[in-house]
Amino acid sequence: MKNLFSELDVAGVRLANRLVLPPMATEQAEAEGNPGPMAAGHYGSLAATGVALVVVEHSYVTPEGRASPGQMSLASDVHVSGHAAIAARVHAAGALCAAQISHAGANRRAGMPGRCIGPTAVENPVSHLVPEEMSSSDIVTTIRAFGAAAARVQRAGYDFVEVHCAHGYLLGEFLSPLTNHRTDAYGGTPARRRRLLLEIVEEVRAAVHGDLPLMVRLGVADNPPLVQLYEGGLTMAEGVEAARALEDAGVAILDLSAGICGSRPAGITGEAYFRPFAEAVSAAVHCHVVCTGGITQPQTAQEIIQSGAADLVGVGRAIAADHDWVRKAREAAGL
Ligand SMILES: Cc1cc2nc3c(=O)[nH]c(=O)nc-3n(C[C@H](O)[C@H](O)[C@H](O)COP(=O)(O)O)c2cc1C
Repeated sequence: MKNLFSELDVAGVRLANRLVLPPMATEQAEAEGNPGPMAAGHYGSLAATGVALVVVEHSYVTPEGRASPGQMSLASDVHVSGHAAIAARVHAAGALCAAQISHAGANRRAGMPGRCIGPTAVENPVSHLVPEEMSSSDIVTTIRAFGAAAARVQRAGYDFVEVHCAHGYLLGEFLSPLTNHRTDAYGGTPARRRRLLLEIVEEVRAAVHGDLPLMVRLGVADNPPLVQLYEGGLTMAEGVEAARALEDAGVAILDLSAGICGSRPAGITGEAYFRPFAEAVSAAVHCHVVCTGGITQPQTAQEIIQSGAADLVGVGRAIAADHDWVRKAREAAGL
């Protein structure tokens, strides 16, 4: 019977177990976006904890998509070597790695340089900034930027590329009816709101010649399960439809989180708070699903895998706080 320490084959890549270290921004990049001097060592030590896959924190794909001054970049070829150093250290520690590529849209720190753009000129509920509505040429530029960044991810030696479509960032803003009021081909219906995401997935797959497996960090709904923080936001049913469309587009792993309410919604506590998202998506797709959010106990992680609620579990803050977490989980499982 499968368990937390069973191997998993994903698109020709073998993961040693079911544990994923989810992306957690360190905000330590240099002014031009190069990973800082501590980055490779930091990710090497997280990889050495025994997780199968380390997802490195979000890197912006264009300067105007930068969320904060400490964010890493994959917007230019000059950043490839810093990322290659991270990938090499993760591999040396025995894990595989993904790089997450993102555009913050209007969910960026106030005062960041460059244009603040988004689907529609309405307030982003997270940052409270009002972006400039993206033109068709902004959309084309953004699609190309994701493709170019994905090619850099491949050159840096990562095993997966992950597109960020969660937490109120640009692609999540397009998915959400709260932030996307467009009346063109990119808004108006759920299918049109996910069009940009799907065009980016297509561009990314072409840029890596189809041979770097693709992950999407998908914000399944704007509200946490059973709680209404943002009235009129993306529903779980729409999120599940997006998951199906992403599977059809060739995505290998759906790394689930939430939309506008973020990865750690205010007032939500308890183990595995996004588990209902994982159950709903797993029931609808055949590609692999990661369940992340508030998992602190090995028994919770084990049960999620054994019940089939997800194929992989993300354990972020608990492993960051205790680098022995995976070893203890293995002991607890009697393995
Ligand atoms: C400090 C910090 C930084 C984060 N940075 C990112 C990020 O860069 N990209 C992302 O998709 N999620 C990010 N997250 C969300 C985590 O990936 C994860 O979903 C969240 O911490 C919940 O999982 P956990 O309870 O296991 O920590 C971040 C979380 C934290 C705590």
